[in-house]
Formats: sequence, structure tokens, C-alpha cells
Amino acid sequence: MDGVPLRPAGRPSAPPAGQRAGDGTARYPAASEEDLLALRHAVRAATVEAGFGLVDQTRIVTAASELARNAFVYGGGGTVEIRPLVSAGRSGLRLTVSDDGPGIADLERCLTDGYTTGSGLGHGLGGARRLMHDFRVDTAPGQGTTVVVTRWRDR
Ligand SMILES: Nc1ncnc2c1ncn2[C@@H]1O[C@H](COP(=O)(O)OP(=O)(O)OP(=O)(O)O)[C@@H](O)[C@H]1O
Ligand SMILES: [Mg+2]
Repeated sequence: MDGVPLRPAGRPSAPPAGQRAGDGTARYPAASEEDLLALRHAVRAATVEAGFGLVDQTRIVTAASELARNAFVYGGGGTVEIRPLVSAGRSGLRLTVSDDGPGIADLERCLTDGYTTGSGLGHGLGGARRLMHDFRVDTAPGQGTTVVVTRWRDR
């Protein structure tokens, strides 16, 4: 196989799903029901590893699941990064859910319980915000959506 590159030049392969970067960040796809199932397991494992109790584990898995499902359904598929945090003696978990879909024009309205443009209950975004300590959204029409949520331990 002399002279045959392992992969096409200029197109570095993405790390396999779940492989961790140096800071402990793991990245998962959110583009199918199977992805969402695998993601829930990965988030649950990350919460256990970070030392969260059962109730917090469920809060974080639920938030991840809602945001990832939105990325899948409305964003045409996306990715979820799971990142353990240690800062000033406290630890936590941060999830970054991104898609390159249509974006959200009226974020306030989409955060309102009961508002949906699909067939859901319209409780996903607002619910995820309530379940986490920090909730940020970066979105604009035509520019995709990134939601970053954090929950700290023992707070
Ligand atoms: N990633 C996204 N890209 C584009 N639009 C989104 C995205 N996430 C949410 N939205 C919009 O925000 C609305 C509200 O989202 P939310 O998750 O609260 O409710 P839902 O997905 O409609 O229903 P539920 O989550 O309760 O099943 C959605 O109906 C959709 O219009
Ligand atoms: Mg939803």
C-alpha cells in the first residue's frame, strides 16, 4: 500500500462518536432515534462519572434529550458535546447542542410553554432551561442553533 494515504488529503477524519478530547469533551451525533438513545446513555454515564446524584442525573439526561431531539427534528440533525467542568473547586457538566438548521426567529416565543411549530407539547426548550443552572442560546434565521446548558454539582 505504498503511497496510498490513509485518508484523503485535506479531509481529516472526525473522531469516532464519543471519543474524548484532551479536556474530556466527548462529541455525539444527534441525527436519528438511535443517536438519541446512545446520547442518553452517554450523558447518563457522564453525570455518574461527574458525581451527580440520581435526581440531577435525570434532570441533565432529560435536558440533553429534549435539546438533541430539537436539533434532530427542527435542525435537520446536529451534534452534542458533553464536557465535564471543574472550576474554582466546583464541578459540573456542560452540554453544547448545535445544528445548522433554519435557526429560531422568535426565541422568547419558542421558550414559552405550550408553543410548538411541530407536533410536540412545546415544553422542551423551556423545560431544559428550568432543569439546568445556566442556559444560553445562539441562533438566528438561516444560521442554525446552538444551545449551551450547564449544571453544577451541589448547588
Ligand atoms: N434547534 C431548533 N431549530 C429550529 N427551531 C427550533 C429548534 N428547537 C426548537 N425550535 C422551535 O421551538 C419550538 C419549541 O420547542 P420545544 O422543544 O419547546 O417544543 P417542541 O419541540 O415543539 O415540543 P416538545 O419538545 O414538547 O415535544 C419548536 O416547535 C420549534 O419551532
Ligand atoms: Mg422539543
